[in-house]
Amino acid sequence: MRKPIIAGNWKMNLDYLQGTDLFLELNKILEDSNFSFNDREVVVIPSFTSIRSIQLASEKSQISYGAQDISANEDGAFTGEVSGSMLKTLGVKYVLVGHSERRQYHSDKCSCVLVKKIKQAFNYGFTPIFCVGEPLEIRQENKQIEHVFSQLEEVLSEFSSDEISKIVIAYEPVWAIGTGETATAEDAEEVCEQIRCYISKNVGEDVALKVRIQYGGSVKSSNAAEIMNKPNIDGLLVGGAALKADEFAKIAQF
Ligand code: PGA
Repeated sequence: MRKPIIAGNWKMNLDYLQGTDLFLELNKILEDSNFSFNDREVVVIPSFTSIRSIQLASEKSQISYGAQDISANEDGAFTGEVSGSMLKTLGVKYVLVGHSERRQYHSDKCSCVLVKKIKQAFNYGFTPIFCVGEPLEIRQENKQIEHVFSQLEEVLSEFSSDEISKIVIAYEPVWAIGTGETATAEDAEEVCEQIRCYISKNVGEDVALKVRIQYGGSVKSSNAAEIMNKPNIDGLLVGGAALKADEFAKIAQF
């Protein structure tokens, strides 16, 4: 009942020409293989500079696209930021919020910023993909569940159950991002199951049954099926492996 969502986060890679080429190649591979978009959703998340050309290229495509961030502010003197209204005219469907790289290198450390970003996303009708996950030292202490619960608590407590049911939650252990180190399917399932339990307990069982939870961190075509086989994992957030059309298509076809 939860439609799997396979999203490719291109991060700060590809100029708009390369991005458009990758999008068109991916689209062709999926169409030629009669990919069933009814059964699963495929999303690409390019850099801001590629979104307009992907909007044009995607007119006849069933691949959705999103943005890697959204400003916490509506408009005004915020040099370098991209607002919800700007993204709206670009037709994006999803926005990433709280990716670990933005938590680490930018202002997204504070949950107050993440809350504002998710509010902006909802104001403009986007689906937020809210990322959570523990760094290595927390995993080594075996405190990943507490860590993820506190990340959920700080942000989800500001939203209604109806809003929470529309958020996609991406569990991305920081130590597995871009490192080639993948959490085992069991490790990924353990945390995703706990996230669902958390929502069931704190928000409601109906919401917990609806919310889509992705796993991200060194996902490849060779491990996608095993991870997607787990009952509480409804999708994948893919970084490096999303930069090759054939590899990402294989992941989407898991
Ligand atoms: P990775 O990135 O697949 O390259 O590990 C995942 C992510 O950051 O979303």
